[in-house]
Amino acid sequence: MDIEIRPCASAEEVRQAITPIGYYFGSSAPDQNQAERVARVLPAERIYAAWEGERAVGGLGAYPFQLAVPGGRVPAAGVTIAGVLPTHRRRGILRAMMRALLDACYRQGEPVAYLWATEDTIYGRFGFGLASFTAEIDLPRERSAFHAAFAASGRVRLLPPAAAEEYLAPIYEQVAAATPGMFARSSAWWQTRILVDPPWRRGTGGDLQCAVLEEEGRPSAYALYRMNWAFERGLQTGSVAVIEALGTSPEAMRAIWRYLLDIDWMARLRASLLPLDHPLLLLLAEPRRLGFSLRDGVWVRLLDVQAALSARLYQTHGSAVIEVVDEFCPWNAGRWRVGSDRVDRTEDAPSLRCDVTALGSVYLGGFTWTQLARALRVQEVLPGAAALADAIFQARSAPWCPEIF
Ligand SMILES: CC(C)(COP(=O)(O)OP(=O)(O)OC[C@H]1O[C@@H](n2cnc3c(N)ncnc32)[C@H](O)[C@@H]1OP(=O)(O)O)[C@@H](O)C(=O)NCCC(=O)NCCS
Repeated sequence: MDIEIRPCASAEEVRQAITPIGYYFGSSAPDQNQAERVARVLPAERIYAAWEGERAVGGLGAYPFQLAVPGGRVPAAGVTIAGVLPTHRRRGILRAMMRALLDACYRQGEPVAYLWATEDTIYGRFGFGLASFTAEIDLPRERSAFHAAFAASGRVRLLPPAAAEEYLAPIYEQVAAATPGMFARSSAWWQTRILVDPPWRRGTGGDLQCAVLEEEGRPSAYALYRMNWAFERGLQTGSVAVIEALGTSPEAMRAIWRYLLDIDWMARLRASLLPLDHPLLLLLAEPRRLGFSLRDGVWVRLLDVQAALSARLYQTHGSAVIEVVDEFCPWNAGRWRVGSDRVDRTEDAPSLRCDVTALGSVYLGGFTWTQLARALRVQEVLPGAAALADAIFQARSAPWCPEIF
């Protein structure tokens, strides 16, 4: 039977479109409540499904995000729910859905798409480049002393997560606006994605906990976490699992992490989805004890090279002429002059030559042109061009997306 690719037009169609990805999470049929929760943050018309008659055999959607980039924010498609039933795999269904979705996002004026990949071999062919690393830690509490004496200022309060949005959202917004890779959260996002505590998310952990640090009466940091208590022969072996801990100043960050590290009964502190330049690395006396381990983070795809590159800030004067190859979105192919004053098409000779995936890798500041040239992912046509482009593209912090979407 023929497959038709089209966006969803009803809650029932959304339910169908999330069924293929739900299958891989072990669910045979998401119910209408799940579909309604998805539709609160992901409008039906932004979800494409592959229809075989009345039945969806694949789904792919894009959240409408405002993504922080160095020096600003840009509308971005947060690509999600990619799934094709095992009965229909490797027949080009993901490719066809990606075509329809990315074309629609481009037409609607979203110059960037980004995603988390379950496998790092899937998305390069569609022009996504690895744009950040993310780190995981597993720290024994008894080795968690800071390198310098710390006296707590402020007060930590425990709040029921369901009532915490008004305290957490302004802190998150301040951090997210200044951190490339983070996106703005709507109230619906807080309520359906962050402050809810469905049993399937708990694993072996306890309830979702929320702690807020107040300094001079104002919330300045928060932590969302779970307690995994355990004892063996009377000794504590449990861990605190940190889901998200953010602060609006270095002092607030230090205080909220000290709070987490000092919770009694816990033998370890575990956290994932941390940025490469997380302050704990330099706060601790023994950073080696973090077991700081890396894996790929978000992947970025420039859908509209001119608009995307124009939306971010560059650090120095001067410009680079970059010749871009883009098979999946050929309108981006050609030579682009990128500089602090403007980004334009040009016929000038290129100083660098690359595939569009390389632009995705440098866009948020997660990788340098020099790194890409060393890995032969960028060709340095003029000697020294990568170093010059690095000076132009340099970002102040590592990209960070603290949640998988
Ligand atoms: C990944 C998945 C969506 C691919 O769907 P699909 O319809 O089989 O993909 P397509 O047939 O359109 O394949 C498109 C291309 O991607 C490649 N590809 C697809 N899945 C791949 C994978 N898991 N690893 C490596 N390459 C993959 C195909 O070989 C094909 O390559 P080509 O265009 O060079 O020939 C599907 O296998 C699936 O649902 N997997 C489980 C859930 C999942 O991992 N989703 C991704 C969430 S980020």
